Amino acid sequence: MHWDHYWNFTGALSSFGDAELEFGYPDEILEFWSDLVLSEKNCNYLDLATGKGALAIWLQNRVDNLGLCGKVYGCDLANINKDKITSKNPSINESIKKVTFDFNTPLESLPYPDNTFDVIVSQFGFEYSDWSNSLPEAIRVLTENGKISLMLHTNESVITKDCKAGIKVLKWLIEERVFEDLANIVSFKASNHSLKYEESNTNLIKKIQAYSIGSQDEQVWYNDIISKISKIMININTNSHNHLESLKNSVFQQITRLEDQVSVAFSKAEIIDNINKVGINLSVLEVKEFYVDDSLFSLVLNIEV
Ligand SMILES: C[S@@+](CC[C@H](N)C(=O)[O-])C[C@H]1O[C@@H](n2cnc3c(N)ncnc32)[C@H](O)[C@@H]1O
Repeated sequence: MHWDHYWNFTGALSSFGDAELEFGYPDEILEFWSDLVLSEKNCNYLDLATGKGALAIWLQNRVDNLGLCGKVYGCDLANINKDKITSKNPSINESIKKVTFDFNTPLESLPYPDNTFDVIVSQFGFEYSDWSNSLPEAIRVLTENGKISLMLHTNESVITKDCKAGIKVLKWLIEERVFEDLANIVSFKASNHSLKYEESNTNLIKKIQAYSIGSQDEQVWYNDIISKISKIMININTNSHNHLESLKNSVFQQITRLEDQVSVAFSKAEIIDNINKVGINLSVLEVKEFYVDDSLFSLVLNIEV
């Protein structure tokens, strides 16, 4: 699964992977989740599709700091090595040790007893599951007065627009056979075919410059990938074919991940339809827009039985 590859590769705790931020998420998101921490002691929390656990760890940290003695669990389908979940911050590391992680665990079949969790959350994770099985499972493990709050990707969000821009740029590279051109350039240089090298180098630069950038998001994706390609072009050596191969693999993995993300970015109406199709009576079913810096970031789905 491409998520196994992703989590194995990133050192970040969240799929946002913003290395500047301890949990990888902007403060607005963490503030949103802080309202979900109950004031009662000894509550159980579950983070569905936790990835490397950013939200679960943050909740545990908050519960501990408030002296509430609550317990946080996080589960995910990906095969993640728990030992690789670490932070430079000692207080966060303490929280990491306290969270119970269950990996290789599908949301469609949760390994927890009925009525276990007072609060169930998910940050860009639940939408990837098969709702007809994962929603009944979440409700099964929820306590009688428990709450489910899920932050979900949506079709008009800044994140989805950014994903679409990334897919466009990366697919263009594949369609234009940029990696094949680059492999030839590396081979010509290595075998001292100077003329062929110069000619193919010039052609590739022209090809790259001919890309018509449609938006600011595309510009960012374009700059990022072209800087990686340029590094290989500028410094051709005996490792260049390996660097090229790993760059190409990571581009393919990225396209799959971005397409996966776009495919689960639903509208409000689709979310309500998905829930209604499951056919469970709910006392609360609420879908709200969530904005960061005045831009639509996600939808929040609140459920109570
Ligand atoms: C975008 S990541 C979000 C991870 C984490 N919540 C975060 O905020 O960093 C989506 C996660 O969903 C997980 N996932 C996808 N389908 C799943 C399923 N059916 N059951 C459990 N986890 C799943 C993936 O392994 C991945 O870690």
